[in-house]
Amino acid sequence: MSVITIHSNVRDYSVHFQDSARFIQEFSRFPERLFVIDENVWRHYGGGCLSCIPEGERMVFSVSEERKGLDSVMEIYDRLMDRAAKKNMTLISLGGGIVQDVTGFVASTLYRGLNWVFVPTTLLAQADSCIGSKTSLNYKRFKNLIGTFYPPAEVHIHSPFLQTLEEADFLSGLGEVVKLHLMGGEKTAAALAGSLPAVLERNPDALLQATRTSLSIKLSYMEGDEFDTGRRNLLNFGHCFGHALETVSSYAIPHGQAVVIGMLFANIAAVQRGLLAPSLASHLADVLLRKSLSIPLRKEYFGSDAILAAMKQDKKRTGDGLVVVMMRSDYTFEKLTDYSPDELVATTAELMESLRVS
Ligand SMILES: NC(=O)c1ccc[n+]([C@@H]2O[C@H](COP(=O)([O-])OP(=O)(O)OC[C@H]3O[C@@H](n4cnc5c(N)ncnc54)[C@H](O)[C@@H]3O)[C@@H](O)[C@H]2O)c1
Ligand SMILES: [Zn+2]
Repeated sequence: MSVITIHSNVRDYSVHFQDSARFIQEFSRFPERLFVIDENVWRHYGGGCLSCIPEGERMVFSVSEERKGLDSVMEIYDRLMDRAAKKNMTLISLGGGIVQDVTGFVASTLYRGLNWVFVPTTLLAQADSCIGSKTSLNYKRFKNLIGTFYPPAEVHIHSPFLQTLEEADFLSGLGEVVKLHLMGGEKTAAALAGSLPAVLERNPDALLQATRTSLSIKLSYMEGDEFDTGRRNLLNFGHCFGHALETVSSYAIPHGQAVVIGMLFANIAAVQRGLLAPSLASHLADVLLRKSLSIPLRKEYFGSDAILAAMKQDKKRTGDGLVVVMMRSDYTFEKLTDYSPDELVATTAELMESLRVS
């Protein structure tokens, strides 16, 4: 087992990499507990490593984006109050980003802060979202509109949970892993390009290494900017165009796959702006980005007007121009806020040609 300690303005917290699932039994050290468990995690592990969790202490939670809202928050408040919730209660969550967002919001608001332990079980949650302190809820048609900054007190990462993920959910997390390795610089990007076949086969050692490296890179971007007002914004690399593509495809493209396409887009745009050498852009597309992409793409997803309308909705946009985070040849990143609709049309056409979307 190894541990990383993370400094946060709310409180310091620790990330534990667990070789064995025995850590679950050790949660009995907390005096009062409620486990909130993703329904699919329960389906796979309820008869195995989670069987030690007593029935009265667990709530099996069905997940979907529709469930990531205030109704679910109230359901969990009610379960906690049924168990005579007290300030010394520990909420223990097992699941992916949806369980994290809902239970993190509950933990941050009930009694203005409950003790909260998170066991991420998806690649996205293990390699990315489990650190960073953000909790988010959807409100009506607005995604992630409501939220707080509240880190768990402890995060426990057990890679074997990833073996049972559906392929689309695995690929969604992979996009964030690729993004973080690119943002880590030339060496980490090359290392991931080398281990990509093993990661795609879900080799346990390769997954553990990729997760650990991803988190340490994310941490380096969060340092000094926990509340996301400066450098942490750069983590939006691949997300500016990626989010627009998700919206236009009505979420048919898994988030992480949209981020991979968003990075291909950003790199073409950066070449056009003279920030990134064309040879490096095509090398990264060949060895890392296109190899992480495995969904069928349809022409309708790339309509310029719809993409433009979606990019104008970007929460982080303040002026007239569009926002795109771009990579430079030295693997540093820059947030541009003056990207124009004409550039968007030209870049999208080139992107579609490179992906052979017709
Ligand atoms: N708070 C943050 O910082 C942050 C960051 C990024 C994304 N998010 C949010 O995270 C959500 C996406 O999270 P996600 O990609 O982890 O997906 P998810 O939570 O939607 O889970 C995806 C699917 O995997 C299943 N699942 C979970 N663990 C499993 C396992 N071990 N084996 C088999 N199936 C399993 C779930 O039941 C679900 O069907 C989005 O709502 C997004 O907005 C939050
Ligand atoms: Zn993302």
